[in-house]
Amino acid sequence: MRPPLTQPLLEQLRQICGAANVLTHDDPATDLSPWEQDWRKRVRGLALAVVRPGDTAQVAAVVKACAAANTPIVPQGGNTGLVVGGVPNGSGTQIVLSMTRMNTVRAIDPANLTITVEAGCVLQNLQTAAEQAGFLFPLSLGAEGSCTIGGNLGTNAGGTQVVRYGNTRELCLGLEVVTAQGEVWHGLSGLRKDNTGYDLRNLMIGSEGTLGIITAATMKLYPQPASQLTAWAAVPSMEAAVQLLGLAHHRLGPSLTGFEVMGQFALSLVDKHFPQLRVPLWRETPWCVLLENSDSESESHARGQFEALLEAALGQGCVTDAVVAENLTQAKGLWHIRESITMAQATEGLNIKHDISIPVSRIPDFVVETDALLAQNFPGVRLVDFGHLGDGNLHYNVQAPEGADGPTFLREFEDKVNTLVFDQVTKFDGSISAEHGVGELKVHKLPHYKDPTALAMMRAVKQALDPHNLLNPGRVLG
Ligand code: FAD
Ligand code: MLT
Ligand code: ZN
Repeated sequence: MRPPLTQPLLEQLRQICGAANVLTHDDPATDLSPWEQDWRKRVRGLALAVVRPGDTAQVAAVVKACAAANTPIVPQGGNTGLVVGGVPNGSGTQIVLSMTRMNTVRAIDPANLTITVEAGCVLQNLQTAAEQAGFLFPLSLGAEGSCTIGGNLGTNAGGTQVVRYGNTRELCLGLEVVTAQGEVWHGLSGLRKDNTGYDLRNLMIGSEGTLGIITAATMKLYPQPASQLTAWAAVPSMEAAVQLLGLAHHRLGPSLTGFEVMGQFALSLVDKHFPQLRVPLWRETPWCVLLENSDSESESHARGQFEALLEAALGQGCVTDAVVAENLTQAKGLWHIRESITMAQATEGLNIKHDISIPVSRIPDFVVETDALLAQNFPGVRLVDFGHLGDGNLHYNVQAPEGADGPTFLREFEDKVNTLVFDQVTKFDGSISAEHGVGELKVHKLPHYKDPTALAMMRAVKQALDPHNLLNPGRVLG
């Protein structure tokens, strides 16, 4: 047998992971599109191979082999990312490192309130493992049935519980990472305090696979609430929605675990494409709000608090009508409507997605002003607005005018629409990416909208940790 470093790369990868776990286009029966095509169908890449390691030692060996062969690596979890960050480019020279075989729960420490899982663990399976142990793992998003905790950490995912529990970063205590040199950083600490130097964990989280490959993580667990109630409220304006948020914070305190806003056009798309979901109240109001109250006492306590909140809101005029789910099935139905907006909008056709954050207090003015500018500059465009208002995070999406061809509209106007919206975001002290990341889609915009000193420090970090640009090149920093 030839020594490993002189063997052709694919043969080495087969020896490391097993032949069945190195997929290439050489086998005509193998369809690589699930790994090469991004979720939104914006980009179809071409992989040299899809490699599926089974443990951390294999990941390290794959990285060493790829480094020696100067072959870039694109880490991938569930491939649900929305910014083209987890698929290969079109060159046919990059390998996709699919982490989904590494999916076991390694340990649960009930007294320390932690769970340690491998990176390829699907988020829903992690939630279930926590629940079976009597705890809550609060990260929750529409893609939870297929996204992985490694991808959630890679993107610092947000979702619908951030208002109470924070982003994925806030939920993580420790990481195991394979570096660009193929070394293993054993950082799976379950510590809540550790001031021994630079915070490498938080540097890795949100780095979108460009600084290291996350192979496992120790995540925080929480007590399960005694009761969880969901309400759906009609609000007359975005200003009223922000007023309701203030009231909900004041009345519910830490029991407020979800606060989502949904615009009328976004809900009309759910009604159009999924009429069986029976969207409430949307026809009579420009905005609806979904609120969740997680109570540590009892259901009757939660219901009493919720009803008092809604009564006060009706009295102040910031809510015009509302329903409180009677039971868990109804509550799940309301959440399902909210989570179906992404699919309804994808079914309607290609659109220009914006995942922005703005200080909550400034969102009403931002929306009024930016809606008007878009209508003036791109007559007929339709706005699919919804998002995590409790976190100041809007999905402020722009759909082509009725009857227009989506792809043609995007080709002609995407950059101009992006510029208009991002200039407005900057004017209102916001960020052009709240939770989805930069990926490839926003990479050319970052130099214009990010502080130049911050960008220079980011480039210095990348150069120090991955000097040969092996890990996910072309993403985040271009
Ligand atoms: P992938 O798409 O496979 O990868 C995403 C990025 O992470 C890539 O840059 C990749 O290289 C990197 N990566 C993946 N695994 C690793 C690893 N082990 N180590 C290092 N880097 C890695 N996002 C939100 O934030 N909030 C939402 O509410 C939300 N809702 C969604 C709803 C739908 C219907 C869909 C389709 C997507 C939604 N997303 C949301 C976006 C997406 O689900 C998240 O970005 C998620 O965190 C991606 O996880 P993944 O496993 O699919 O990662
Ligand atoms: C959501 O909040 O539903 C997601 O971030 C997905 C999206 O923006 O479409
Ligand atoms: Zn979101």
